[in-house]
Amino acid sequence: MVDTVFVKNTDWESTRSMVRAIISDEPDIIANMANVAAVLWQSMDDINWVGFYRVVEQELVLGPFQGKPACIRIPLGRGVCGTSVADNKVIRVADVHEFDGHIACDAATNSEIVLPLELNGKVIAVLDIDSPKYNRFSEVDEKQLSKLVDDILVALKG
Ligand code: SME
Repeated sequence: MVDTVFVKNTDWESTRSMVRAIISDEPDIIANMANVAAVLWQSMDDINWVGFYRVVEQELVLGPFQGKPACIRIPLGRGVCGTSVADNKVIRVADVHEFDGHIACDAATNSEIVLPLELNGKVIAVLDIDSPKYNRFSEVDEKQLSKLVDDILVALKG
């Protein structure tokens, strides 16, 4: 089922420049994840959760986020997040109820996008965004969020 309700487009140029300004002088990844989650929470319409899971010893562990309390640990290869890490690829899910193994942290979620953060050949974390709207995340969102993730990785490398 595809929800056709209009979603206001995010102003990606100002969102990304805000992110770059906030994280560019800060190498601490947790602080940067916290601020990125806060910026995205403010700039994206119709989302109910945005945040990070970090890869810690063969599982994903909840990192900085905005939204309701969420699942703390996710095995690699499980759910949308664990699959994104295992396959090292962006996963955009129009209807989470049709994704085999989707982990429902918030029953309100209907669509989701997960982007891996790869540093020195290893996925170190994922950025996960959930929406109560079906098919919330567009190709443009995916492209811009991928650039934003690159900005985070550049800041990390110093
Ligand atoms: N839905 C995710 C779990 C994390 S929550 O959405 C915050 C998944 O299937 O991996």
